[in-house]
Amino acid sequence: MPRILVVGSQWGDEGKGKIIDILAQESEWIVRSQGGNNAGHTIVIGTQEYKLHLIPTGILQTNTKCAIAAGTVIDPIVLVEEMKTLQTRGITFENRFWISPSAHIIMPYHKIMDTLQEKRKGNVAIGTTKRGIGPCYCDKINRIGIRMCDLVDSKQFETILTSVLKLKNEELTKLYSKEPLAFKEVYEEYMALAEILRPYVRDINPMLHKETESHKTILFEGAQGTFLDVTSGTYPYVTSSNTTAAGICSGAEIGPNTIDHVLGVMKVYSTRVGNGPFPTEISSHPYFNPMDAREMGTTTGRQRRMGWFDAVLAKASVNINGISSLAMTKLDILDQFDEIKICVGYEFQGKIHLTPPPEIHLWDQIKPQYETLPGWKSPTTHITNYEQLPDNAKKYLNRISELCQTPISMISVGPEREQIVVVYSPIGQKLGV
Ligand code: GDP
Ligand code: IMO
Ligand code: MG
Repeated sequence: MPRILVVGSQWGDEGKGKIIDILAQESEWIVRSQGGNNAGHTIVIGTQEYKLHLIPTGILQTNTKCAIAAGTVIDPIVLVEEMKTLQTRGITFENRFWISPSAHIIMPYHKIMDTLQEKRKGNVAIGTTKRGIGPCYCDKINRIGIRMCDLVDSKQFETILTSVLKLKNEELTKLYSKEPLAFKEVYEEYMALAEILRPYVRDINPMLHKETESHKTILFEGAQGTFLDVTSGTYPYVTSSNTTAAGICSGAEIGPNTIDHVLGVMKVYSTRVGNGPFPTEISSHPYFNPMDAREMGTTTGRQRRMGWFDAVLAKASVNINGISSLAMTKLDILDQFDEIKICVGYEFQGKIHLTPPPEIHLWDQIKPQYETLPGWKSPTTHITNYEQLPDNAKKYLNRISELCQTPISMISVGPEREQIVVVYSPIGQKLGV
């Protein structure tokens, strides 16, 4: 029984939620381990559409156990709201959902600071989700963060909030000329949330390590994507967590050798939301339309920028994450294209580069080198068997696999659970979709 890690391999929104929902059918545990409610996963099950930000996607399967691990940052307002919304839709949490006491808490000042800092940056703003993610991770690294174990201990919360709020209010009033936050209001609001969350806060490590020893199928659910990683991404246009496979292990507090399979989720083209370099971006194309392609951000509703598949970045992602196989999503979006381009190299400073140059600030000089493949011009949305895919779709996928030097295990042909071609199951079990 394997432990599988699902990692976003581009700039996020690769369709991780949909792939995890399918794999969760055969998994006992699903663990979310980094990021916060900057993530947004849309899962379509029959006529029902679910939008999840913090709670692991696996919660939608009835028999799974789910955990939000230590490396995450949790906005308790959002978490309680998300739980309530799911509860009204019949999803249960008792005895199957736990939150790590070590996860950090997003406080009201983090959200305010996120907005103020973005404003201050002007035309070099990151384009964050304004959910307080960056400021919360900053406090964690600066060792002035508030954790879930602090929140659920009223005395401890009072002590820590008293000291941190003093500092934050100084920043708000002196640096930004804003009103200070009132201790009483923040304290009371957060204590009410603590009451609701307390039963779910539990040290998940002993449970998880016991399950690992007894060879249960555990799925580690990545959020964001490799090129949003604070170390390996297009810095500074990144998020503030480590979104790569190693970051997911660290956030879940598990050793990398417990992972049997790293599944990299990639779209068959590229998107990014927010600012930052995007070598293969196309500003206008008759079929690359964010509305038709459902490329509207799940969290902020912003239109995603779109472009051709970038094999230079994809191969780098395979290397950074140690990807074992690829889940390719959104094949159907290319169904109408006459021809499709793949970026196979970067012309940069007089040379062809097959790996992305680290000087992100010079990426506007990159000239992508494209290979053009013929489209298949027929619908794929009904296909569930690899052999039935049009020849040109197979050729396109094979070329991606070849450039990435990695096999493709899953191909998604639509947003719904059933719209999937399983070439082989990354968890080695029959996926009954
Ligand atoms: P995530 O953040 O990686 O989970 O991805 P999102 O849910 O933010 O964005 C992916 C979007 O594409 C969602 O609206 C999904 O319902 C949708 N989607 C996922 N796979 C496919 C697919 O194969 N085809 C199409 N047309 N839509 C898909
Ligand atoms: P999922 O899990 C796509 C982007 C933001 C912004 C940058 C920094 O749905 O794939 P932040 O609020 O994290 O400080 O913003 O990161 N971003 C995402 N883009 N998908 C995501 O998550 C993202 N989470 C953050 O748009 O460019
Ligand atoms: Mg998303």
